[in-house]
Amino acid sequence: MSVRRLAPDEVQPASFAFTADNLAWAQQTIAKYPAERKASAVIPLLWRAQEQHAYWLPKAAIEYIADMLDMPYIRVFEVATFYTMFQLQPVGKKAHIQVCGTTPCMLRGAEALIKVCKSRIHHEPFHLSEDGDFSWEEVECAGACVNAPMIQVFSDTYEDLTPASLEKILDAFARGETPTPGPQNGRHGAEPEGGALTLRDLPFNAAGTVVAEKPKAAPAAQPIEAGPSAEALALAAKEEAEIKAKLATLAADATPEQKADAVGTRPQGLASARSGASDKLQRIKGIGPVNEGKLHALGIFHFDQIAAWTREEIRWVGTYLAFPGRIDREEWTAQAKSLAAGGPSAKE
Ligand code: FES
Repeated sequence: MSVRRLAPDEVQPASFAFTADNLAWAQQTIAKYPAERKASAVIPLLWRAQEQHAYWLPKAAIEYIADMLDMPYIRVFEVATFYTMFQLQPVGKKAHIQVCGTTPCMLRGAEALIKVCKSRIHHEPFHLSEDGDFSWEEVECAGACVNAPMIQVFSDTYEDLTPASLEKILDAFARGETPTPGPQNGRHGAEPEGGALTLRDLPFNAAGTVVAEKPKAAPAAQPIEAGPSAEALALAAKEEAEIKAKLATLAADATPEQKADAVGTRPQGLASARSGASDKLQRIKGIGPVNEGKLHALGIFHFDQIAAWTREEIRWVGTYLAFPGRIDREEWTAQAKSLAAGGPSAKE
């Protein structure tokens, strides 16, 4: 961590005052806070003062802002000396390089970046280069660890650096240019180096920038016919009437299984789901959690089992679940066929 001291007296200006524009901006900023809380504006005002004063804060600016906010000088000195975003000494006219030296950046090559700063700028931090254009310091984590190693230059960060890319950035600043901030290794933001590792078929990156041709749409799954045919409905109605007539002959306390056995054939169930994983039967319109549980109890775990039900079995299950005819009206077997083939159900 750098030592945070005010610049020596010989470089301190005698006074500081905001320009008219900055004064108007400061007054607007202070007005955002309740009068008794105007000290809350201290950081934005210090930052604006630093921007106005060649990116460093002289003692006079710190006191000027303390007066403006009715704060004791020591309170504003505490803020200015705590945060490394505030420079307390003159910095390079073209760039002040803040190299993050905290663990992730250190592990990813920050020491090599510091070597570049030492050889290109000055062997000591907080010293100006011979031409006065550059200065550097080591700072603690700047919050871009995922793109380590990185530097900050005034308000911008430059990430995923190597000694060579840092040299290029310094060259650009030396020419009076402002290099493009962000990762310097071609990746977008903090996306994986070398491209996506998951969701690879997305044709755009996190910023919505198109990076690949849109993948061809998968062939449309066979749609389920829009509702059962008139013949199927007529057959179901006929069966319902037959079932009703048969059930009327049973004792009033007949169990659901006895009723079902009277009208159809129980489908053969499995002892357990294949590979220990049941299909999600609730994807079939008409099957909710209760019926899914009842079907599991019958050994029905998979779409292909339902798709293969015979008329006798449909009658049995419909009666057992106490809604004869509904399996036909809701087309469970057609939905199950579609789902077993990887297509949609009537719900989807
Ligand atoms: S450790 Fe360098 S940005 Fe966090």
